[in-house]
Amino acid sequence: MERFWKTDSADTPMVLVHYGKLIANLDDMAEFAEASRVKLRPHAKTHKTAEITQLQRERGAIGITVAKIGEAEEMAIRGCANILIAYPIIGHSKLKRLLALAEQIQVSTIIDSLEGAQALSSFFASQNRRIDVYVKVDSGLQRCGKKPGQEAADFTRRIADLPGIRLIGLLTHAGHAYGASEPHLLEKIARDEARSLLDTAALLNQAGLQVSEISVGSTPTVKISGSVPGVTEIRPGNYVFYDMTQVRLGVVPMERCALRILTQVVSRPAPDRIVTDAGAKTLALDRGAHGVEGVSGYGLIVDYPAAEIERLSEEHGVVKVSPADPIQVGDLLEIIPNHACPVVNLADELIVVDDRGLRDRWQVIARGKVK
Ligand SMILES: Cc1ncc(COP(=O)(O)O)c(C=O)c1O
Repeated sequence: MERFWKTDSADTPMVLVHYGKLIANLDDMAEFAEASRVKLRPHAKTHKTAEITQLQRERGAIGITVAKIGEAEEMAIRGCANILIAYPIIGHSKLKRLLALAEQIQVSTIIDSLEGAQALSSFFASQNRRIDVYVKVDSGLQRCGKKPGQEAADFTRRIADLPGIRLIGLLTHAGHAYGASEPHLLEKIARDEARSLLDTAALLNQAGLQVSEISVGSTPTVKISGSVPGVTEIRPGNYVFYDMTQVRLGVVPMERCALRILTQVVSRPAPDRIVTDAGAKTLALDRGAHGVEGVSGYGLIVDYPAAEIERLSEEHGVVKVSPADPIQVGDLLEIIPNHACPVVNLADELIVVDDRGLRDRWQVIARGKVK
């Protein structure tokens, strides 16, 4: 595979993004959303940049999804006017920040507990405002969310008339798809992702309650769950870059991966061991989202796919190589990470390249915005 970085020196480590591959990934998902007639609301935790948010909006995204209020605040300052915070908002300080955002932009969030719903309701009602909410349904990840069907429907009916909130839909995220060991399991998880919401919506319907949004999304499942009739919104995140986890799952071929880490060999202390300057503070210790089956090391070295990034300390990547590999101290290597999202969160900027060389530098404005 061709290298992204065309010269033989660089101030490493760097996070490189290939512009052409990024645009192809963005276009592909936008075309899917249009053809499937679903709204595209990408999760911005993957890129955390104003520039990619803008590129997504230019391709028809109705807004973005984020996990944290801090990410939403950064994106709102840069002109993003429609943001779903797909995370339970709990506690007075968070409610105050949510209100401040709701006074500037169109903002929505999720609920999955009575305590959370009541606190949100009384806070917004006390300000004579209403906030749009989705009920979070657990389609199998076993993280947040009500069980699909009766439990989720009963909860939704209970909170639907609370003052200060406006129920707009049901939402789920099939993150457990990352643990799928076979393509047919992925397909089943994706179908269940949509079903979990549609079955719940059908029960609500029988009880006379309609919800307008049925929101699904994880990159491995989205093209299946997003084409089930009745689904109205998709929230893929990782698709902008893809990574070795997506390759392992068969979602895309390696050539579609748009993000690489450029690192330099700083030592070859033994014939079968090199050390690079991309350690845990660059590559992250996360070996892959919600499942590491089939993933080896911390990513793939493009020129030496058989080499294994065995260990990371904070600033050292320890790689097992073949004694025959002609790697020297000072060489530049490109790594496709197992999980692109935490890599971006550790970087100050994304170095944007195209086939002619350096094109731009994009600041990771929502880096570390975990509050
Ligand atoms: C609630 C929610 N929606 C959407 C996504 C996007 O998932 P992916 O990065 O697999 O596309 C995530 C990922 O963490 C999520 O937590």
